[in-house]
Amino acid sequence: MNLRGVVLAGGTGSRLRPLTKVTNKHLLPVGQKPMIYYPIEKLTGVGIEEILIVTGVEHMGDVVGLLGSGREFRCRFTYKVQDEAGGIAQALGLAENFASGQPVAVILGDNIFQAPLKQHAEQFLAQGAGARLLLKQVSDPHRFGVAEIRDGKVLGIEEKPARPKSDYAIIGVYFYDAAVFDIIRTLKPSARGELEITDVNNAYIRTGQLGCDILEGWWTDAGTFESLVRANDLIVREPPK
Ligand code: DAU
Repeated sequence: MNLRGVVLAGGTGSRLRPLTKVTNKHLLPVGQKPMIYYPIEKLTGVGIEEILIVTGVEHMGDVVGLLGSGREFRCRFTYKVQDEAGGIAQALGLAENFASGQPVAVILGDNIFQAPLKQHAEQFLAQGAGARLLLKQVSDPHRFGVAEIRDGKVLGIEEKPARPKSDYAIIGVYFYDAAVFDIIRTLKPSARGELEITDVNNAYIRTGQLGCDILEGWWTDAGTFESLVRANDLIVREPPK
């Protein structure tokens, strides 16, 4: 398959301190596995064989020690260091050489969900160009990127808005064509000093090239104590497909 996978597992994990003083957030246990196994298995479930893992400098050794070459997952891993937590879009920018002109399926390393990704990947590839996002209705949209939707189309996305325009969160799964790297080069840091993935997605909206699907089944991030507990609970009760 000519879709390449990217797992973004950098960042500081500050909301999970002191757990993240000893290890990378994405190596913490969720159910019976380290957190990062779940996004990797979602990508291999699509049939993706080439996967880039981006993580910070502090725990790269542990991440490589855990994941190895990819043989255990029936894929091949490439690793890239993000020197500081400059944002999700900055981390993705490091994937340009790896992607070498191919489209990419990107997953945030702390996103865990039940449904397979295959049908969404196929819809993205059928779209031919641009980007495709997954949405999920949530009770706490102010914690996420939030989509303004009309007639099944995303009109705009706001990052962690105080007054969300809908309860549809943008989950941390993104499909992009190779133009994403040109878009990332144009970004300026946000008020929180990061290159924002929401700015990338809004750029695709402006050119009319953003598709979206609603994700079925449960979804959670695992980046706070509450959501980490929730992820453990969901994994045990209703394991991912
Ligand atoms: O979980 C979905 C949400 O993820 C989206 O709804 C938001 O639009 C998106 O901005 C993001 O929000 P968070 O504030 O929750 O992202 P966080 O900073 O927690 O980072 C999520 C993952 O992204 C993290 O587990 C690893 C990766 N990351 C993050 C940063 C800031 C990196 O690889 N490098 C980074 O510099």
